[in-house]
Amino acid sequence: MKPSIFISGASKGIGLAIAQKYYKEGYRVGICARGEEALAQAKATMPDLYTFVCDMSSKEAVKALVPKVSEALGSLHVLVNNAGIYLPGSIIDEDDEGYENTMRTNMDSAYYLTKGLLPAMMAKKSGSVVNIASIASLDAYPGGGSYSISKFAMLGFSKNLRFELKPHGIRVISVLPGAVLTDSWAGYDGPKDRLMPPEDIAEIVFTSTTLSNRTVVEDILLRPQLGDL
Ligand SMILES: NC(=O)c1ccc[n+]([C@@H]2O[C@H](COP(=O)([O-])OP(=O)(O)OC[C@H]3O[C@@H](n4cnc5c(N)ncnc54)[C@H](OP(=O)(O)O)[C@@H]3O)[C@@H](O)[C@H]2O)c1
Repeated sequence: MKPSIFISGASKGIGLAIAQKYYKEGYRVGICARGEEALAQAKATMPDLYTFVCDMSSKEAVKALVPKVSEALGSLHVLVNNAGIYLPGSIIDEDDEGYENTMRTNMDSAYYLTKGLLPAMMAKKSGSVVNIASIASLDAYPGGGSYSISKFAMLGFSKNLRFELKPHGIRVISVLPGAVLTDSWAGYDGPKDRLMPPEDIAEIVFTSTTLSNRTVVEDILLRPQLGDL
C-alpha cells in the first residue's frame, strides 16, 4: 500500500505545493479547503487526489472531517497542519472576530485535527506530524497582531506535541517560513523573486519526513535570501 499524507488548507499556496510534491513521489494525498473550485482545480491536475470541503475554523467541521480522512487514507504517514489565514492588524485595533477566527483557523484546527488522527498513527508507532508555523512564531513585527499570536501558539503546540510523542515513534516537525510567494501576499507589489517559492517549502518538508526514523528535524527556519520583508 502506498504511503498517505493529509494536508489541511491545501488548495493553494504552500499546502498545494506540498500536495504536488508528495503526489509526484507516489503518495496517496488528501487535502481540504473551504472553496470547491480550487479543490476541483487541484484534482484536475492530480486525478487520484482526495479532496474534502471543510472549514477548518469550525471545531465541529474538523471533528466531522477526521473519520472521512481516516476512511479514505487509513492511518497517515504524514499529517501537515497547514491551514492558515493572515489578516494584518494590531492587538489594539483589530476586532474580536478577527482575533477569534484567526485563532480558530490557525491554531485550533491543528489541535483538533491532530488529536483526531493521531490515535491511528500511534497504534502503528510511526509517521510524521508537520506543523506550519512561521517566523511570526518567533518575534513581534508590524502588522502581526492576532496572526503572530496564533503562530506563537502553533509553535508551542508543536513543541509540546514533539515532547509527548517521543516515545511513540512519531516525528513532530515545526516549519517556520519567512515570506513565501502565495496569495497571502496578494497586495505585495515588490519584485516577486524577493519571496521564497512554495516549492522550496515542499522540498524541505518531504526531505524531513523521509529521513531514517532515528532522526527528527525538529525546527525548519527558512528565510528569503535577502532577508525578511
Ligand atoms: N505565505 C507566507 O509568506 C507564509 C509564511 C509563513 C507561514 N505561512 C503559513 O503557511 C500556511 C499556508 O499559507 P499560504 O501562504 O500558502 O496561504 P494561501 O496561499 O492563502 O492558501 C491558504 C489555503 O488554506 C485554505 N484555507 C484558508 N482558510 C481555511 C479554512 N478556514 N478552512 C480550510 N481551509 C482554509 C485556502 O482555501 P480556502 O480559502 O478555499 O479555504 C487555501 O487553500 C499558513 O498556515 C500560513 O500562515 C505562510
